[in-house]
Amino acid sequence: MASIADVSNRTLAELISLEGRTAVVTGGAQGLGKGIARRLAEAGANVLIGDRNGELAVQTAADLGSKSSGKVVGLAMDVCDAASVAAATALAEAEFGGIGIWVNNAGIFPSIAITEMPVEQWDEVFAVNARGTFLGAQAAVRAMAARGQGGVIVNIASLAGLNGISPGLAAYVSSKHAVVGLTRQLALECAPQCIRVLAVAPSFMVTEGNMAMMQQDPRIAEAAAEHIPSMFSSKLGRVGVPDDIARAVLFCASDMSIFMTGTTLVVDAGESA
Ligand SMILES: NC(=O)c1ccc[n+]([C@@H]2O[C@H](COP(=O)([O-])OP(=O)(O)OC[C@H]3O[C@@H](n4cnc5c(N)ncnc54)[C@H](O)[C@@H]3O)[C@@H](O)[C@H]2O)c1
Repeated sequence: MASIADVSNRTLAELISLEGRTAVVTGGAQGLGKGIARRLAEAGANVLIGDRNGELAVQTAADLGSKSSGKVVGLAMDVCDAASVAAATALAEAEFGGIGIWVNNAGIFPSIAITEMPVEQWDEVFAVNARGTFLGAQAAVRAMAARGQGGVIVNIASLAGLNGISPGLAAYVSSKHAVVGLTRQLALECAPQCIRVLAVAPSFMVTEGNMAMMQQDPRIAEAAAEHIPSMFSSKLGRVGVPDDIARAVLFCASDMSIFMTGTTLVVDAGESA
C-alpha cells in the first residue's frame, strides 16, 4: 500500500508551497472561491476556476493570474452537470498537467420556510451542493488515481453541515450535512491511493452571494440575524471575510496537513465552541 511522505525534514516554506501543482476551484468567480483561488495561486499552484458564471470566471482568473506566481484560467462550468465537470477536468489537465488539488466550493443557499418550499428548490439545492460536490470529487479521484501521485480534495461545507441554523434553510442544512458525510466516506475510500479528503466549515462570511440574497429579501436577513451570531460580529470581534476561509483551505491543500483526512475543519471564530 502507498503511504504519505514523512515531511518532518521539510522547511515551512516548502510545506506551504504548491509550486507545480494543478488545482481546480469550483464557484471561484467570486466570494469564498475567489479568495481560495487567490491564495492557492499565491502559493504557486496553477488554478482553474470553474463557475456557472463563465464571463466572471474568466475576468477573475485574469485578475488573479496577473498578481500571483501560479497561472489562473477561468471557464464556464456547471457542477451539477457531469459533462461540464469532465470538460473542466480535461482543460485543467491540458493546460497545467495532472490535478493534485480540487476544491468543491460552488454552492447555493436560498432561504424559504419548509411549508412553502417547492420540491424543485429542494432538488436544485441538492443538485448544486450535494451532487455537485459528488461529481467534483468523482472527477478529482479519477484524475488523481490515474496519475498515481495522491492528491487533496477540499469540500466547502458550513456550520450548517454540523447543526441546524436559521429557519428557511432546511434544504441547505441537509445538503451540507451530505457534504460532511461524503467527506468522511471518501476519506476512507481514497486513503489507499493517498488521496486526502477534507472539509472546511465556515460560519457566516461576507460574500457577494449572501449580500445579494439579503438585499433581495430583508426578511431573510432579519431571520438569520436572530440565529446566526457571526452575521454582524464574532467572538473575536469582527465578521468573517473570504480570506479567513482561504487560508484554512491553503492549509488543507498543502502538505502542512499531510496527516489529515476525513476531518471537517471548523472556521467560525468560536461560534460553535
Ligand atoms: N458566505 C458564507 O457565509 C458561507 C458560510 C458557510 C459556507 N459557505 C459556502 O461557501 C461556498 C461559497 O459561498 P459564497 O458565499 O462565496 O457564495 P457566492 O454566491 O458569493 O459564490 C458562489 C459562486 O458559485 C457559483 N456557482 C453557483 N452554482 C454553481 C454551479 N452549479 N456550478 C458552478 N458554479 C456555481 C456562483 O456563480 C458564484 O460565483 C458555498 O458552498 C457556500 O454554501 C458560505
